Amino acid sequence: MTYDVEAVRAQFPALAEGLAHFDGPGGTQVPAAVADAVADALRSAVSNRHGDFASSVRADAIVDGARSAVADLLGVDPRGVFFGPSMTANTYVLARTLGATWQPGDEVVVSRLDHDADVRPWVQAAARAGATLKWAEFDEKTCELPTEQYEDLLSDRTRLVAVTAASNAVGTMPDVRAIADLAHAAGALLHVDGVHATPHGTVDVPALGADFYSCSAYKWYGPHVGITVADPALLETLLPDKLVPSSDEVPDRFEFGTSQFESLAGVTAAVDWIASLGSGASRRERVVDAMAAIAAHESQVFTRLYDGLATRDDVTLVGAPSRRTPTVAFTVDGRAPQQVAKALGDEGICVWAGNYYAVELMRRLGLEDTGGAVRAGVVCYTTTDEVDRLLGAL
Ligand SMILES: Cc1ncc(COP(=O)(O)O)c(C=O)c1O
Repeated sequence: MTYDVEAVRAQFPALAEGLAHFDGPGGTQVPAAVADAVADALRSAVSNRHGDFASSVRADAIVDGARSAVADLLGVDPRGVFFGPSMTANTYVLARTLGATWQPGDEVVVSRLDHDADVRPWVQAAARAGATLKWAEFDEKTCELPTEQYEDLLSDRTRLVAVTAASNAVGTMPDVRAIADLAHAAGALLHVDGVHATPHGTVDVPALGADFYSCSAYKWYGPHVGITVADPALLETLLPDKLVPSSDEVPDRFEFGTSQFESLAGVTAAVDWIASLGSGASRRERVVDAMAAIAAHESQVFTRLYDGLATRDDVTLVGAPSRRTPTVAFTVDGRAPQQVAKALGDEGICVWAGNYYAVELMRRLGLEDTGGAVRAGVVCYTTTDEVDRLLGAL
C-alpha cells in the first residue's frame, strides 16, 4: 500500500491553517474523525456508567470501546488498560501505589534520558519509602542508553526500573527488551514510558517486556487522555488509594472520578483512524500495517531534515543515537534556542525550544542554563516541502 501524505493531510482540518508542525513530539493535530467522535459523544445522550438506561449503557460502551481500541494499538489485554487525565497523572498513581509497598533499603532505577514524568514520580515515591535511588546514565556524545550498566544497577533489592521507549528530546530508543530481561532476572518490575515511541512504530507491549507501559493519546492524533496498560493479573495485586464507593474492580479501580467519556470516544476514533491507513483482517493487523507505513514515511522525511541540519556548519545536533524516532534536537551558533524557535514561529513553523521536560538530560548535557535546544519532530502528516521550508527559514 502506498502512503499518500496529501490524502492523510486532507483529513486534518487544523492543517488548513498553513502552519508547518514540527511540534509533534509535544502533541499532534487530530483528524476530523477524532474531532467528530468527540463532538458526537457530547451531542449524544451519555450519562454516568453502570445504570440500567440507554444513555448509561452508552457510557459503558464508550469506556469498553476505548479499552479495546488501546488493546489493539498496543497488543495487550483490554482488561489491563486504564485511563487518566495524562501520562504524568497515571504515573503518579502507579508510583504512589507501588511505592507504598517499598521498604527502606529497596532500590529504584530511573534514567537520565527520560522525560521528568517517568523520573520524578519514582524519585519522590522512593524518597517517601526510604528506598535507594539509582540512575542509569546516557552517553553524552550519542545520547544512547547503554544496556550493560543495568547489570551493575540492578540487585535483588531492586523493586522498579523506569525507562523510556524513546526520548522525547533526542529520539533515542533504548533496548527496552534487554533492560526488561535484566530487570526481571533481578525480580524487579519495569515501567516503560511509551509516550514518545507510540506514534512512531508498532508497539507490542508483551514483546517489549514492559510490566507497565504508559502513553498519551494526544501524541498519536487523539485527545488528551493518559493511558497505562499492564497484565490484569499484575493490576489485581495492586491497591491504589481510592474512594470507598468507587469500583474495586481492575482496571476501574485505577481510574478516579467520572470518566472523560467524550475524550475516550476520541481515543477509539484515533486508533480506528490509524487502522484505516492499513490493511488486514483485524483492527490490530490494520494498526500494525499502518504503523509500518507511517514509520516508512516518517523515516524518509526525517532523513531530509536530519541531513539538511547535519550539513550546516552553524548547527550542532544533540546526540546521534543509532535507533531513534524521527525527532532531532539542535542548537544554532550564536542564537538562543528560544530566539530560533521564535524566528521560525514568525514564519509559521512550529518547533519547541527548551528542555521539553527532559530536564535531567539537558542538565547532564550542560544545555539547561543556555535554554536547552530547538526540537523538530516528524509525524504522519509532515512533508518534505515542510522540511525544506524549515531549513530555508533557518
Ligand atoms: C516522553 C514523554 N513522557 C511523558 C510525557 C508526559 O505526558 P503527559 O503530557 O500525558 O503527562 C511526555 C509529554 O510530552 C513525553 O513526551
